[in-house]
This record gives sequence, structure tokens and C-alpha cells, in this order.
Amino acid sequence: MNASENGSTCVPEAAAGEPLDLTPLDHILEEFKGRRGAVIPILQRAQDAYGYLPREVLRAISQKTLIPLNQLYGVATFYAQFHLQRRGRHLVRICDGTACHVRGSGKNVEAVERSLGVGPGQTSEDYKYTLEIVYCLGSCGLAPIAVVDDKVYARLAPEALVQRLESLE
Ligand code: FES
Repeated sequence: MNASENGSTCVPEAAAGEPLDLTPLDHILEEFKGRRGAVIPILQRAQDAYGYLPREVLRAISQKTLIPLNQLYGVATFYAQFHLQRRGRHLVRICDGTACHVRGSGKNVEAVERSLGVGPGQTSEDYKYTLEIVYCLGSCGLAPIAVVDDKVYARLAPEALVQRLESLE
């Protein structure tokens, strides 16, 4: 699945050593030109475009809007919705709330760690997966639960979960 198929509009990651294409950011900043108090929407749009908030992007936002860089970092680190590190193409969230935990979510976490080489809060080296542990998604009756991108997987055994993940592009 490519970026447009999974609904993402991310700018392709620059090859190592190549400068990031800041054209999409220029368009975003043009849209918000002269609008005060637009820090959060600008960061949201920039993250939508790049998948995360690379340092070059934050620096460019600061230069072009005259918002101090430390203020941008302050906002980006305060809100959990913002990410300063590149993330995987697939976000894997495994619930380890009480109901999921007693029904074996720990085994799902271990299986994903072992098979895909990505630990909680980490992104795999090939940037295919980012694994997050969450605590109760409000569907305890379906425990244990994993949400991969926007798809919910209920009551999956560890092997089945790993298989589904491995089958993703
Ligand atoms: S504990 Fe996992 S959905 Fe509630």
C-alpha cells in the first residue's frame, strides 16, 4: 500500500544527506499567513504533510513566522499528538489495560517485539511499524485488543496478530 492508498498525504522521506522538500510547508504557511494564534494548526498541518515534525520543518516554521523555535518545541513536546521522530508506516497500538492484560495482551506485546523487532514506544529500523502501548480503548468485552492504523483486531492470539502485521505492505 502506498501513501495515497492508506490515506496519508506524507511527503516522501528525503534520502540520507538530501535536504527535505519544504515546498509543502511553504503552501501551509502561505495559508496561515498573518493569522495569529495559529501555532497548533500549523504544526498539525505540517505533521500531516511530513508524518512527523522534523527539525528542519520546525526551524523553517520559526524563520518564516517569527515564532521562536523554543516556543514551537514547547508546543510540540507538550501535546501527545505531535511527534518529533519519524514514525513507522503502520501504527500498532496494543491495549494493555486491565481487561486486555488479564486476557493475554502481554503475550501480544512480546510476540510483536520478538517477531518484528520493535519495542513499546519504538519504530522499527525499516520504518514499517511504530508500536505503542495504550491503556483501555473502551472495548474491554473484545479483549485483548490491538488497533493497527485504524483497524481493530479483537481477541487475536499472538501468532495471528504477528501474521496480520507481517502481511501489511
Ligand atoms: S482494557 Fe483493553 S479495551 Fe479496555
